[in-house]
This record gives sequence, structure tokens and C-alpha cells, in this order.
Amino acid sequence: MDLLLLEKTLLSLFLTAVVAITISKLRGKRFKLPPGPIPVPVFGNWLQVGDDLNHRNLSDLAKKFGDIFLLRMGQRNLVVVSSPELAKEVLHTQGVEFGSRTRNVVFDIFTGKGQDMVFTVYGEHWRKMRRIMTVPFFTNKVVQQHRSGWEEEAACVVEDVKNNPEASKTGMVIRRRLQLMMYNNMYRIMFHRRFESLDDPLFLKLRTLNGERSRLAQSFEYNYGDFIPILRPFLRGYLKICKEVKETRLQLFKDYFIGDRKNFGSTKATDNEGLKSAMDHIVDAQKKGEINEDNVLYIVENINVAAIETTLWSIEWGLAELVNHPEVQKKVQQELDTVLGPGVQVTEPDLQKLPYLQAVVKEVLRLRMAIPLLVPHMNLNEAKLGGYDIPAESKVLVNAWWLANNPSHWKNPEEFRPERFLEEESKVEANGNDFRFLPFGVGRRSCPGIILALPILGITLGRLAQNFELCPPPGQSKIDTSEKGGQFSLHILKHSTIVLKERSF
Ligand code: HEM
Repeated sequence: MDLLLLEKTLLSLFLTAVVAITISKLRGKRFKLPPGPIPVPVFGNWLQVGDDLNHRNLSDLAKKFGDIFLLRMGQRNLVVVSSPELAKEVLHTQGVEFGSRTRNVVFDIFTGKGQDMVFTVYGEHWRKMRRIMTVPFFTNKVVQQHRSGWEEEAACVVEDVKNNPEASKTGMVIRRRLQLMMYNNMYRIMFHRRFESLDDPLFLKLRTLNGERSRLAQSFEYNYGDFIPILRPFLRGYLKICKEVKETRLQLFKDYFIGDRKNFGSTKATDNEGLKSAMDHIVDAQKKGEINEDNVLYIVENINVAAIETTLWSIEWGLAELVNHPEVQKKVQQELDTVLGPGVQVTEPDLQKLPYLQAVVKEVLRLRMAIPLLVPHMNLNEAKLGGYDIPAESKVLVNAWWLANNPSHWKNPEEFRPERFLEEESKVEANGNDFRFLPFGVGRRSCPGIILALPILGITLGRLAQNFELCPPPGQSKIDTSEKGGQFSLHILKHSTIVLKERSF
């Protein structure tokens, strides 16, 4: 009797195994997934690879698993692409298939489930938002309308530094002042508004709320609830804070900037009289019924996160590299003194005559890419990539930093050497004309803000270099360039003190 039971059990086990193997073989044939570490149930590869999937860790994994690999982060599929050819496939050839964005519980809160432009899926809504935002923000006309404003703001920074006796001795954390400058550059475009000083209460409120929004969205703290849906209830406290920050922030935009814009005299910039602000254009689109009030708010939200800190991080990295590479700094100063004349302040139209300064900007964007994995892409439907099957709704990261720092493609990539963009890489531009160098991405979801970011970077770094010797603080030979990354951002870990000594001509 017992023997019969044993026989039956063995037989059924055998049959189950046969069925399981057959199914997995069939699936395997149908579904050829990219290589990657072997996942364990529930957690996938999460415990093996950890939370901090930054550009450097992902480059190491690419060396092990290849130019395309798959990580299972709990329930989520993460595909990482690390070659120019595959980047071209994702961003250009199959730009529609991979043109959506992943969101998660936190981004859903901050973007109202994709009512914005940056984090929405590829489709009608995105197309409309991008079209509506183009005229007010992303054309050469906007640059021409606002470039003197950016020059004024940079001149104010130079003045403030000159008036700060500490700056030339013990030094100052110039980032703080540059942050105010970036807010002014963007708020002048959006609303024709500027903030007088670092103590302006409205500026302080905005800075805090934007800072909180970025911290909450870029943190790894909420990964567990994102990767393993049954753990989501434990995120309740975190999500409550996100909702509060989101609501207070959008209310602030509404009360002080979007509502009745006639009442905001105190901080109104005096220039551009008669010319429309970006918000005038956006509200026109709302009046025509093209977008709703929430969309207007999310446009302001997007510009606050996409434009200000990214450009500021790049300026901050640029200054750090100039401090740590005095020979580069000297060459920038020589170029400015020779081309413009000693002490003649650089303006936007001058930038085209300053190839070395432009090469410095590119080299900063290459080595210290602010968004090193681009903003994550996503395929709404099952897709093919590099001969593999990509499950629908995979998060697709293009490791743009590795494309621009892979020694197989670049000579001594770890060196900060702007000359490369005048010598062996002289044809490479920041606009994506070469798939090894994509600091702003390329294709449909590429950064439309490049048209503003490049001149702002050139003017700001140029003005600071032509007016000051930039040095490390006393007793230090270099400033610390350790990196701090988030879900997809990269900035300098410590906001260093820099000594700025006025140059004499
Ligand atoms: C140095 C400064 C900047 C860098 C490095 C940067 C980089 C990027 C990158 C890598 C992307 C994603 C590309 C992709 O996913 O394929 C992006 C998207 C975007 N950026 Fe920038 N950006 C900068 C400045 C700006 C500025 C000044 C603005 C606006 C005034 C802006 C607005 C946007 C928007 C709206 C998107 C989303 C585009 C879309 O999803 O269709 N960025 N940026």
C-alpha cells in the first residue's frame, strides 16, 4: 500500500517536472531575455545589486554582462543599455517604442500621474505639452529675448563676490549665490520676475520646497515599496509627506506666480516690457482650451525641476574643475582676454568666438554629466532590442555617462581635458550628433532646454573666469569632487568653498 503511494507521488512529481520544464522551454524559446545576474524569487536581483544603481555601478555590471543586460528589481524589469549602437536604437531608431517614461508611486504624486511633460508616456498629451512649451521656452527667439537678462544676472554675481571681503581670502560657497542666479534666469523667462537677494522670503520658500521635492523623488528610501508591491502599505508615511510637499508647492506656484499676475509688482523684472512672458503664452493655450489649469501648474513644476538644478550642478562642476585644473583656467582667461580684450565682459553672441570656453563646457558635461542615465525611458509594449525580447513596461536606462567615459571610445576619459574637443573629437557637439556623447539625450525625449543651458553655462563660467582667479581654500590644494547620485541625478557631494581673487588687467 505504502509502496503504491510512493510510486504515485514519484510519478506525479515526475510529471510536474516534465510539464514545468516544457513550459519553461516554450517560454524560453518565445522569450529571449537579455543576460543578467540570476534573480531570486520575490527580490529578483535587488539584494545582489543594491539600491544605488548609479552610472559607475552600472558600468561595472556592463563589463560583466555586456552592452545590454537585465536586472529584476523585485517585480520591475530594468534594462540597461551601454553602447552607442544600442543607445541609437533606443533613442532614435525605435524612439517611439522606447519613448515613454516609467513612473513610480512617488513620481505619480509629483506629476499628478503624468499630467506634466517630462514624466508622461509618449503620446498625444506629451506631443501637445511639448508643442505648447516650445515657443515660450525653447527657441532661439527666447535666447535672444533673455540673454541680456542672463548677462545681467551673471554681472550681479560678479559684483556680489567683489563686494564680499571673505571671497578673496577664506573663500565662499559660491553655489548659494549661483542658485539665486539660476532661479532668476528661469523666473525671468517664466514670469518676468526676479528675486533681489538670498534672503527674499519667497525665494527661500521656493528653494526649500523644490529641494524637498527633489530629495523625496531622487531618494532610494522608497525603493522597497516600488519594487515589491505588497510592501507598499509601509510607504504610507513617506507618500503622505510627498503629497504635502506637492500640494504646498503647487499652491505656492498658484498663489504667487500663476494666479493674478498683475499683483506681483515687487519682484517684477523691469526688462522685457511689452514682451510676453512664457506664462502669458501658456495661459493663452489654457484659455484656448488646449490644456487645463493643472497642466499649467505642472509646466511650472517641470521647469523648476528640469532647468534650475541641472544647470546649477553643471556650473558647480565646471567651477570645481577650473579650480582643480589651473592650467585650463589660465587658457580660458587667455582666450577671453585675447578675443574680447582684457576686462570686456563676455556676452552670448561672443560664445561662438570662444572655442576653448565651449570645449570646457562640453568636457564638464562629459565627465560630470548631470543626468548620467538620462531620464528613464520605457516601452509601453513588448519590444525587441539587440536581439533580445524586452518585456512591456520595462524601465530602460541608457548609461550616457559610460558612453562618454568608456576607454574603448575615448582617449584617457578619466582626464579633464577640454582639448579633446578641439583635437581628436573636434566634430562632437553636445546636441547628440555623436551617440558617444549624449549629455542632453537625443531624439524625441531629448532635452529641449539645451538651447538655454549651453549659453547660460558659457556666460556664467566665462564671466567668473574672466573676473577672478578661482582657487581652493587656504591649506587645500584641490577641492573635493566626490559625487552624489540619486535615482537618475548626479551632483557634487560637498558644496565647496572657493576662493575668488579679483583679476587685475
Ligand atoms: C545642463 C543642464 C541640463 C542638462 C544636463 C539636461 C539634461 C537632460 C536630459 C539628459 C534629459 C532626458 C533626455 C532623455 O531622457 O532622453 C532632459 C530632459 C528634459 N529637460 Fe533638460 N537638461 C538641462 C537643462 C534643462 C533646462 C534649462 C530646461 C528647461 C528650460 C530643461 C528641460 C527639460 C525637459 C522639459 C525635459 C523632458 C523632455 C521630454 O521628456 O520630452 N533641461 N534634460
